[in-house]
Amino acid sequence: MAALRRTLHLTSLAAGTRRTVAGSLAGSCLADRSLWDKLHAQPRQGSVRTFDWFFGYEEAQGLLLPLLEKARAACPARVLDVGCGTSSLCTGLYTKCPHPVDVLGVDFSPVAVAHMNSLLGGGQGQTPLCPGHPDSSLHFVQADGQNLQPVASSGSFQLVLDKGTWDAVARGGLPEAYQLLAECLRVLSPQGTLIQFSDEDPDVRVPCLEKGSQGWTVTVQELGPFRGITYFAYVIQGSD
Ligand SMILES: C[S@@+](CC[C@H](N)C(=O)[O-])C[C@H]1O[C@@H](n2cnc3c(N)ncnc32)[C@H](O)[C@@H]1O
Repeated sequence: MAALRRTLHLTSLAAGTRRTVAGSLAGSCLADRSLWDKLHAQPRQGSVRTFDWFFGYEEAQGLLLPLLEKARAACPARVLDVGCGTSSLCTGLYTKCPHPVDVLGVDFSPVAVAHMNSLLGGGQGQTPLCPGHPDSSLHFVQADGQNLQPVASSGSFQLVLDKGTWDAVARGGLPEAYQLLAECLRVLSPQGTLIQFSDEDPDVRVPCLEKGSQGWTVTVQELGPFRGITYFAYVIQGSD
């Protein structure tokens, strides 16, 4: 049931917001890069420069800012958003977080990465983004979340974020999703926090996370409802 609801939700978002592409995507898999390249290439309406699956930075900040406050000993706190797409999470952290943050957004879609780099640098006549703290920084790099070796060393991030990426990768198979999780945990500092945001029910997701993150503690927080849908933050932290 949860899986069905998730399918309907992801499908309806794609169909509702990206109608022209969705029509030609029957049978496509959300784990395929070519599908994401097409979705990320869709024109944005009006002055909207980011597109969020689920919800955006404004809805997530209440959970993220206290964690970054706690991580201030590492100055700046390093944040990784795996499968960042063209979401407002990285840009919101960079422009609005009052603490110094060093944010890295990675996605396997070069289209998403190019869009975010253009937004960051003020391409297409836009104003470049300004940091919320003078010591904050933001970068976007193309990388596969299942192999972060080229872009991230072990234990180097205080906060790792996955908003909808497990959901997409798991469409290609659970082993691939476990590999994504293993990479997120490899790059996480032992005192750090990994958060997966998803609409998948805890009775489905928690057993998977407990299996894939032994030695870490998994807790769940309910978020929303946003636009009528309840989401979950799956929080994975070191067990002290
Ligand atoms: C559901 S979207 C979420 C995008 C963004 N996090 C958001 O909340 O709007 C899933 C994202 O994961 C990316 N993705 C899927 N598989 C990936 C992989 N193996 N490595 C890196 N990114 C991946 C897709 O390109 C897409 O941007």
